[in-house]
This record gives sequence, structure tokens and C-alpha cells, in this order.
Amino acid sequence: MPNIGYLNGQFMPLEQVQVSVEDRGYQFGDGVYEVIRTYRGHPFGLEEHVARLERSARELHIPLSLSKQEWFSAILKGIQQSGYESAKVYIQITRGTAPRNHQFSSSLTPTILITIREMPEFDMASYVRGVQVITVPDIRWGRCDIKSLNLLPNVLAKQQAAEAGAFEAIFVRDGFVTEGASSNVMIVNENMVSSPELNHQVLAGVTLQFVMRIARANGYDVHERSFHVEELATADEVFLVGTTIEVLPVTQVNHSKVGLGLPGPVAGSFMTSFSAAIEEMGPLGLK
Ligand SMILES: Cc1ncc(COP(=O)(O)O)c(C=O)c1O
Repeated sequence: MPNIGYLNGQFMPLEQVQVSVEDRGYQFGDGVYEVIRTYRGHPFGLEEHVARLERSARELHIPLSLSKQEWFSAILKGIQQSGYESAKVYIQITRGTAPRNHQFSSSLTPTILITIREMPEFDMASYVRGVQVITVPDIRWGRCDIKSLNLLPNVLAKQQAAEAGAFEAIFVRDGFVTEGASSNVMIVNENMVSSPELNHQVLAGVTLQFVMRIARANGYDVHERSFHVEELATADEVFLVGTTIEVLPVTQVNHSKVGLGLPGPVAGSFMTSFSAAIEEMGPLGLK
């Protein structure tokens, strides 16, 4: 199966995609991105991801020439050309190419890139055993709601986690949990399911919002509320959510057990509902 690239309207084998060294994405990280996965060839949350991409670009004053329908058709065509049932679709928009200068002209033409690769299998044992996380100071900027290419704090945090034998690093700002380096965090206390408030310090995850819907439909009290890092240790359950991990139980935080140190029933039931929803998903994603 071929890995597919799409650059500014043209599909090609991924290895043939070339971008200028003067692209502002390369020089300044001046751009935005999305990651969408497919199940049985159907993109999960296509509308939601494209809406977030458009919002991120708008917030950075990057003009978009593609309409929503044109995004859908480019993404769907790429998925079809790749032939992958289970694909990882990466979309990146940069402000465009220009001689290096911080200031930008509003007349630049954005560089639009899509890459489509096979989605690597996620280790099933992680769902059965749960994963470990560490907490790290959130040193990121004040607009983490924008899915920008500037990921240095996330890259360093993820590396720190890996070196500590953990799967994920959870950012903590002023004592409160914001999110993971590449995931959102949820906790459970009896019938209450909480996610940090979706403000400028957190990316409003497509998976998170879907899991919140599942939780409400299953009768839980769902709250968007800031919670203190110490609540990770006292919660009945902690879990991570995100495109590539779905609903992943956390069993240790900074080498201390969460609850009994085993994946909890609530995360498990959300994962079951999540899988059932995917089974019913149509060609344009969620209903
Ligand atoms: C910082 C951050 N938060 C949250 C998420 C989860 O978002 P989504 O569920 O839309 O993949 C991601 C995903 O990559 C992320 O990078």
C-alpha cells in the first residue's frame, strides 16, 4: 500500500513531497496541524477535526483557500488512494514561503500538506495493564487551544516521560492539570467525570468531547472543571483520551498507584461504548 502525500492540491507518493527551506513552518513553526485516524477506511470525527483546523488557522490569521467540502474531498480522496483501512492522516498548513523575517505579509500563499500513512497498531497490553504518567510543569504559551506546530515543550515532556519509563507527561500549571503532552486527561470520582476546563490553556480534543458525550449518555455527571494535580492521586480513576490512544487507563502517576493500581471499570465501559460507536460510523465520521 502506498503512503500518500498531497501538496497544494496535488497527490503524489509521500517520498516525492518537497517543501522549500524558506517555508515558515520550517523556519518559525508558523502553522497549524491536525491528526485524523480512519477506521475501516472512514475518518473519525472528520467534521470536528476540519472545524478545529479552520479555527486554528483563523486564530493565527492564516487565510484558507479550501472550503469545508474541499477539505473533506481532499482527505477522503487521499484515504481512498492509500487503500489503508486504518490510516493516520496528518494535515499541516503553514503561512507559506518567504525570505526569513518574523513579520509576515498577508499576501503569502499557505502551504497545504496532507500525509497518509498506515496507522501503527497500539499495544493492546496498555489497555489491560494501564499506563504510567509523570507530571511536568506546563511551560507552554497561553494559546494551547490552537493546534500549532510549536510543540517543543510537548516534545521535551514526552521525552522526559519516556526516559522515566512512563507513557505520557501531564502538564501542570499553577498546581492544576491542563492536559497531556499529546492527549487530554479525565478523572472519575464516584459518578462524577471531570475534564479540565476547555480554556486557552488546553486543546479541546475531539476524542475528549466524544467521550464526554458517551459519559453523559451513560448517566455520569460530567464536569469541565479545573482540578488540582493532587486529585490525580485521590481519584477513583484517571485516564487519557486522544486520537491515537482512544481511552487509555492510567494506573500510576509519578510512580504512585491510582486507586488499586489497576484499570478502572469506568474507563473500560467508555472504551466499550467508543468501540461500538466506531462500528456504526459512516463514511463521513461520527453521526
Ligand atoms: C496537546 C494535545 N492535547 C489533546 C490532544 C487530543 O486531541 P484529539 O482527541 O483531538 O486527538 C492532542 C492530540 O494530539 C494533543 O496533542
